[in-house]
Amino acid sequence: MCGIVGHIGPKDSVEIVLEGLSRLEYRGYDSAGVSFIDENDSLQIYKKSGKLENLKGLLKDKDYKARMCIGHTRWATHGEVNDVNSHPHMKDHISIVHNGIIENASSLRKELAAEGYDFKSETDSEVFLALITRELAAGKEFKQAMLDSFKLVEGHSAFVVLNENVLEIMSIKKGAPLVCGINTVDSEAFVSSDPYALAGMASQLYFPADNVLCHLSAKNKNLINFYDSEGNPTDDFMSKKQDMSVGPTDKGQFEHFMLKEIHEQPELIRSLTQFYFHGEGLESLKKAGEFVPSKFHISACGTAYYAGLLVRDFLEMYNKIPCSPELASEFRYRNPLLQKGESGLFISQSGETADTLAAQELCTNSELKTLSIVNVDGSTLFRNCDNNLLIRAGIEIGVASTKAFTQQALTGRLLSLALTKELNDEASRVKLTAKFSLLAEKIDHLISRSEEIKVIAESIHNHKGFFYTGRGVYFPVALEGALKLKEIAYVHAEGYAAGELKHGPIAMIDEDMVNVALVGPELFEKTVSNIQEIKARKGVILSIGPKDNEELAELSDYYFGIDFDGLDELSPIYINIVNQLLAYYIAKYKGTDIDKPRNLAKSVTVE
Ligand code: F6R
Repeated sequence: MCGIVGHIGPKDSVEIVLEGLSRLEYRGYDSAGVSFIDENDSLQIYKKSGKLENLKGLLKDKDYKARMCIGHTRWATHGEVNDVNSHPHMKDHISIVHNGIIENASSLRKELAAEGYDFKSETDSEVFLALITRELAAGKEFKQAMLDSFKLVEGHSAFVVLNENVLEIMSIKKGAPLVCGINTVDSEAFVSSDPYALAGMASQLYFPADNVLCHLSAKNKNLINFYDSEGNPTDDFMSKKQDMSVGPTDKGQFEHFMLKEIHEQPELIRSLTQFYFHGEGLESLKKAGEFVPSKFHISACGTAYYAGLLVRDFLEMYNKIPCSPELASEFRYRNPLLQKGESGLFISQSGETADTLAAQELCTNSELKTLSIVNVDGSTLFRNCDNNLLIRAGIEIGVASTKAFTQQALTGRLLSLALTKELNDEASRVKLTAKFSLLAEKIDHLISRSEEIKVIAESIHNHKGFFYTGRGVYFPVALEGALKLKEIAYVHAEGYAAGELKHGPIAMIDEDMVNVALVGPELFEKTVSNIQEIKARKGVILSIGPKDNEELAELSDYYFGIDFDGLDELSPIYINIVNQLLAYYIAKYKGTDIDKPRNLAKSVTVE
């Protein structure tokens, strides 16, 4: 959610931190701020609500030379979006940035206020600043003050603290992402909530375990020292060479990242099969298929969960392995029945989603093997699972997930193949490669018809609400289509099983309600009957279904025919591309901020 970047070194720290923050801004963009030590060794702070651009504007004419800086992009949890609540927070020559939630903030706040602390903001984060300054005022060393303060806060958080008095940065975390890095050539040390912020800057990364204190100082021989909760040196961190490159993070010819990412899908599909069937990924795919569990507990959030529903369909259809898909936020608190021989399967783009991580931990604690289908190599989920299948979607910047959904579902199909003996059979791999290639080709063709979807979007974008309906394998993509529209166009939309509408929601149908009917070749007649029921109540019908179908064309106010031939089980992934483009163009007509929709953040690291 919130993005954190910190730097110590001879280069311009503010510039480096701003560069890191700009890479993370798509994750949270309510406000941004930096604090740094200037050439007179004095702590400066600049922060501004709104996007990073506003902060950059504030810094534009300032003449500073910083050798130490921490910065933050905020996704608000406690306290409204304004300059005061923006991070960093500063008092007594100490400044802090925070990602996460301090669950006992309100009781600590009362206690500290009673002791005379004058809170400036409404944030939970400032509580940690108050604790640190209290401990320092009591005469403790910086390290001890950090450790003692951290013991008092509950919940999942990462803190980075800059201390002007000793010219050092310390950070600590529990259940929230944090990575440190060094570049020995230029004697630089870094800290961030995301390794991507450090790509091309740090050559070596360190992922500290929970409660490990990271001490960044130019005086340290190693640039960073690590301490356990008792203050003793520790090696409780995972170390890895930085292999991430910044990659192309511009929109190129596209107006939005979301549109660019929709367009990237055919190529990504081709390279996914190449990697897993004919390249270096084959071994990891085989490994993922070695353990055949008696049941899969599939756990994920949002779009990743809907991809999980498709993965369930593959695993049950091809492997006859029972699957229990569940939203991670529910699974983690439901005391699910977890038994020996079963497996936890977690799906995530970021690999940092708090609820998904908690679901994984629950499975590990119950001695289940855990497997992830994940995009970010080296993410917390990746590190915590026994095994991982990377979806290889590249960085996804648009907050609305598009290409990650497609790659997650397809990787699930690869997993289902890996769980059979067929994977070892070159002919089977070639057959599935051909099917994936066909999907890529058909998506290319769909994208070339974007103008038709745009025309439909123009006519329907002002309707009051949308019901996305589908049956069987199209139900998960009805849910996903509705989610896409809600999040980027801010229109009320529901995904429903087509046969379920008459059990209540049909009461909402009138001439201002659009039914986006996802009609596959399977259960065609039954789905058409459901459309008839909506039509009879004057609902506006947009059907997306088999091409050249007169019945559908006649029944529908808008009809978008597509060619499912040869796609079989991949058909829902195909039809979902129309959902993506439809949501995109409706949002465009609505004039919303498509890549950074209000209230959202790309990576949800709080529960
Ligand atoms: C919607 C969207 C979210 C994410 C969800 C899980 O477009 O992107 O619903 O799918 O927050 O995130 P990850 O996949 O990072 O675990």
